[in-house]
Amino acid sequence: MGQAWGFGRHGGPEVQEFFDRPDPVPGRGEVLIQVDVAGVNPLDHLLRSGLVDGLDGGRAFPRVLGMEAAGTVLRLGEDVNGLEVGDAVFGFALTGGGTYAETTVLSASNTARIPEGLSATVAATLPVAGTTAVDVLDQLGLAAGATVLVNGVGGGVGLAVARLAIGRELRVIGAGSTAKREHAEAIGARFIDYTAEDVAAAARRLVPDGFDGIVDLAGGTALRTVAPLARDPRSVIAVGDMSVPDLGGRFVERRVDRENLERSARLALDGLLAPVITAVHPLSDAPAALATVERGHASGKVVIKVA
Ligand SMILES: NC(=O)c1ccc[n+]([C@@H]2O[C@H](COP(=O)([O-])OP(=O)(O)OC[C@H]3O[C@@H](n4cnc5c(N)ncnc54)[C@H](OP(=O)(O)O)[C@@H]3O)[C@@H](O)[C@H]2O)c1
Repeated sequence: MGQAWGFGRHGGPEVQEFFDRPDPVPGRGEVLIQVDVAGVNPLDHLLRSGLVDGLDGGRAFPRVLGMEAAGTVLRLGEDVNGLEVGDAVFGFALTGGGTYAETTVLSASNTARIPEGLSATVAATLPVAGTTAVDVLDQLGLAAGATVLVNGVGGGVGLAVARLAIGRELRVIGAGSTAKREHAEAIGARFIDYTAEDVAAAARRLVPDGFDGIVDLAGGTALRTVAPLARDPRSVIAVGDMSVPDLGGRFVERRVDRENLERSARLALDGLLAPVITAVHPLSDAPAALATVERGHASGKVVIKVA
């Protein structure tokens, strides 16, 4: 039995609640873990709202929030390869266990060992933001010296993309609100404050010939403002807004397997995928952690330290 935080029905923050639940039983291809740290992501509140219920596997209520975590393996389900009881691991709760909890089940094929030297706090941020950053830059496939615009640079994915892009010797321009300047510039990106100037005009001044790639984390009008700045519309990759093909761009193709998790962990160890963790909340403070992300202007990654 352990404490968990989730929701009793779909809705706004008012449906959120703490409750006790028996340790979930790992099914075929799953592992039960003691959660050390859970990452907080926009998809968590979208699932709670019911807007993307298809991704939630029709689980019974109450449902536990959270889709990524780092922790220690307590028990193996059938047909689990490459993981042992006692391993420190990180991965996805794709089968619906929910990670804002003392224990949860992770999908073993979407879970990897935490390498020596990497903290659980950093590892817990890699399944969503870390592997997404790897995927978008792989799919852009830009050579050193190319220019990339990261729209929404100050959030969890944006800072990870910007850091990794700079490690690949790309020239990075990031757009965000005023408070994000410090984070973006600290990792070596040029910054455009969309609250203080016209993003498209400022970006054209910096890169008059157009961008070789655009990574969009903001979506909506903000995506439509920057998309024409790309030299080739196919080099606009959106991570959150699935309407991007209407603009000639692409929605990111995600790889959430163990191999990509291991690759993200190696990049994090090498300092090339250094997530900027701006808030660590105890489980009792999970409502504040999710509220920060739900307001839509989070800085870097917010995590919940459970253990
Ligand atoms: N497809 C996938 O597998 C996948 C994976 C990860 C994330 N996502 C999606 O990708 C999006 C970003 O995720 P995230 O984890 O980075 O979210 P996040 O941490 O909440 O960051 C979003 C950032 O966008 C900025 N922003 C908001 N409006 C903006 C605008 N008009 N122009 C520029 N920046 C703006 C926000 O701060 P400021 O406005 O203060 O600058 C914030 O820093 C979300 O929609 C998420 O659901 C999808």
